[in-house]
Formats: sequence, structure tokens, C-alpha cells
Amino acid sequence: MTANDVDLTPPLSVLLRRLPDPTATDQVTYLEAELAGRFEAANAVAVSSGTAALHTALVAAGIRPGDEVLVPALSVPMSVAPIVHAGATPVFVDSAPGSYDVDHEDLAAKITPRTRGVEAVHLWGRAGDPDRLARFAADHDLALIEDACQAHGSRHDGQLLGTFGDAGCFSLRDGKILWSGEGGFILTHDETTAAISRGLRTHWQSPITPPPHLVGYNYRLAEPLAAIARANLARFDDLLAQRRHQTQRLHHQLAGVTRLHVAEQHEGWNGHAPILRLDVPRPRELNQRLAARGVPNSVGTYGLIACDQRPVFGPPVGPPCRNAAAMIDHTLAVVLTEHNTDHDIDRYAQIITEEIRSWPNT
Ligand SMILES: Cc1ncc(COP(=O)(O)O)c(C=O)c1O
Repeated sequence: MTANDVDLTPPLSVLLRRLPDPTATDQVTYLEAELAGRFEAANAVAVSSGTAALHTALVAAGIRPGDEVLVPALSVPMSVAPIVHAGATPVFVDSAPGSYDVDHEDLAAKITPRTRGVEAVHLWGRAGDPDRLARFAADHDLALIEDACQAHGSRHDGQLLGTFGDAGCFSLRDGKILWSGEGGFILTHDETTAAISRGLRTHWQSPITPPPHLVGYNYRLAEPLAAIARANLARFDDLLAQRRHQTQRLHHQLAGVTRLHVAEQHEGWNGHAPILRLDVPRPRELNQRLAARGVPNSVGTYGLIACDQRPVFGPPVGPPCRNAAAMIDHTLAVVLTEHNTDHDIDRYAQIITEEIRSWPNT
């Protein structure tokens, strides 16, 4: 079977004949067992989105209104919104100079008596140093939640991302390597975190007694979407190999283009998005120009900026996270899906090469 053939097992048509059934959970139950096995965690809890996964995991890990959660400025709004949904305050941490990884000195400097958690954000599927973050969280008695929404299948020193913290949160939205249209899941080694997450996602209509102070949500994953997720999970190795191939192909095509550098080449990396460093003046404009010419990318298409610069997350506290902002501005991260052919990738490479060669030096 190729990566583009989906085998819906059991067939979606059979499932649809059994629905509607508000008590149906078969597909979700099977999916959770399969996810736990495939992603090497004791428990998987399926939910309706990556955002829901993060919100649920933060609350299940003990984050409460008034708490502070440390989170990289190099992240997307969907990483940060769940902290606000939990009633907590995001405290933004800068990147290390010239790096996509958090600045560990800044991280330590931003702890206050209200700090209760750290959220690692594995943007573009990159790892950073999750071991170091886990040690930091343990030393300071903080919950560690991983935003692994783009990191399906990425490993650090052989260990899958999403399994380093108290909980790892994944998205199943279209465009992720593993997808079901919409959806998400939480991985956790901790039985209590899993049980609370299961209660929260369905207004406590689950076997465990609800802690009375926690209001539940409807964050259930719909059964037909769970069936699609199962079908895609069955071909996950192909999907992962395909994304790595696409990313490596683009990197390879662009090798040797001046003022452009491949920024990530890690063996355990899932290759979620080709990541290139633009050494040009006005790199954001170049990203926008590439988006306009049909090369979808994080900055030009989705307007990625450092999250401490987004007014919706409150007035800036302390100096801006300048390293994160500079890294984002100079990064061309190309957005891929499984439908991008070699021809598409080669066209992207051609457009990027043309644009960067003609881009003025001032
Ligand atoms: C890094 C990151 N975090 C969180 C999310 C939120 O996931 P979802 O769109 O499934 O809610 C996404 C997905 O777009 C993401 O890429």
C-alpha cells in the first residue's frame, strides 16, 4: 500500500450504519490502545483537537487559575491559548541566541513563586533538549507538558517526543503527519493524569468520580474521525517516511544556494517541515513573496511571530524575546502535506532559488 492509499478498517461505511449512537466508543477505545502501542506510552487519551489535548493535559497536571506556565516565545498561538483557557498566565521564554531551542538561563530567570508548569513546544517537529527540560521541571517541582502537535514520530536520543513530560499533546488536524481531519491525543505514563483527562473530555461521563472543583468539557473525538485516525495510524510508517523524503528532497535541491542554509538535519527528526535559514535583508518580506508565489510557509502564509508579541496574550512583561523573533523572521519553514508530489517539491525549490537569487542585498 502506498502512502496515498487509505484502508479504512473497519470500513467507514459499516461504522456509519451503526451511528448515530451516543454511547459508541469502540473506535476511540481501539485507537487509544493502538496509539499507546505505537507511541510507546502507557496511556493515550483521544480528544477533539491538539488545542483540547493541551488544555486537558494542563488541567489534569494541576495547572489552575492564577498559576504561571513557562512557554517558549517561539511557538504558535495554539500552544499558548490553552494556558489561558486553564486560567493561568503564560510567561514567555526567549530562544538561545541563533538557536531554535529555549534559552535555559532565561527559563530559570523567569521562575516566580506562582510558576507551576513548563510547556515544551516542539515546533516543526524539532526536539531541543527535552531531557534537560524534564530535569529542570523535576528540580523545581513543575509539571512538564509537551506540545508535540507537530512532532509525531520525532525522537531525541531514541526516545519519542511526547513521552518526556507528564503529558505529551498531539494534533490530528489535516496537514499533520498523522491526521484525521480534526482531532488530537494525549500521551501519559501517569494513570491519574489519564483518568482525569478522560473525565474532563466528556463532562465526567466516565467511570471515575470527578474531582468536584474541575468543570468538564466536550472534547470527545468523534467515532468516524477515530476510524480515520486508525486507518492512518496503520500506514503511519509510510506517512513518516514520505514526509522525511519530501523534506530531504527540498533540502537537497536547495543545497548550495547562497544566502540560504538548511537549519535542521537531525536523524531522529520527523521532517515535519523543511526548515531553512534566510540570510537576506527583509526576510519576512521574502517569506511573504514566496507565499504569494505558491510556496506555503509559516511566516508568509500563517503570519508566524514570537508569541510574546501577540497582544492577545497580555501586555509584555519584561524585555521582548528578541532571539525568538529574529529566528522566526529568518526562517523559511515550508508547509507540506502528504499530497505534495516530487514535482511540487521541485517547483518549490525552483521558486525559492529564483526569488533568493534576485532578492536585493539591501
Ligand atoms: C505546535 C502546535 N500546537 C498546537 C496546535 C493545535 O492543534 P489543533 O489545530 O489540532 O487544535 C497545532 C496545530 O495546528 C500546532 O501546530
